[in-house]
Amino acid sequence: MTRFHLTLFVLLGLTLSSCYYDVEEELYPDFKLCDPDNVTFSGTIQPLINTKCVSCHGATNPGAGISLTNHAQIQAQALNGNLLGTMSHSSGFSPMPKNEPRLPDCQLEEVQIWIDQGAPNN
Ligand code: HEC
Repeated sequence: MTRFHLTLFVLLGLTLSSCYYDVEEELYPDFKLCDPDNVTFSGTIQPLINTKCVSCHGATNPGAGISLTNHAQIQAQALNGNLLGTMSHSSGFSPMPKNEPRLPDCQLEEVQIWIDQGAPNN
């Protein structure tokens, strides 16, 4: 009986975790799977910001007066520390995306890698 329950539990866990990944791909169809070895502005950072930030940081009336619609604007926030400070929910920053859970560590790592490269327009 115990073994049966254990098996059921494992199977359920597997089913749930595969569902989770399916759903994530559906929610973010323009996301490549996280790939920290291959980070570019156009392929990684801009799609992430477009999906997670631009709804509130667009061209008109953006949150905190900060637009994140092009490379120059995003780079400025990257190099002054605000981008990763807010996204990693560090103390002293408003956690972003606002009212949403922190982004997965792998995506924060991609942002960190891009910033370490000097936040290039690549
Ligand atoms: C639901 C709307 C919303 C979303 C989504 C959102 N922001 Fe914000 N953001 C705001 C508002 C409003 C403020 C003004 C400060 C506050 O209210 O917390 C702000 C402030 C900021 C600031 C100023 C820093 C600070 O500490 O005040 C930065 C940088 C920022 N956001 C970056 C981002 C990034 C990067 C994303 C995407 C990962 C994002 N935001 C997603 C609404 C949003």
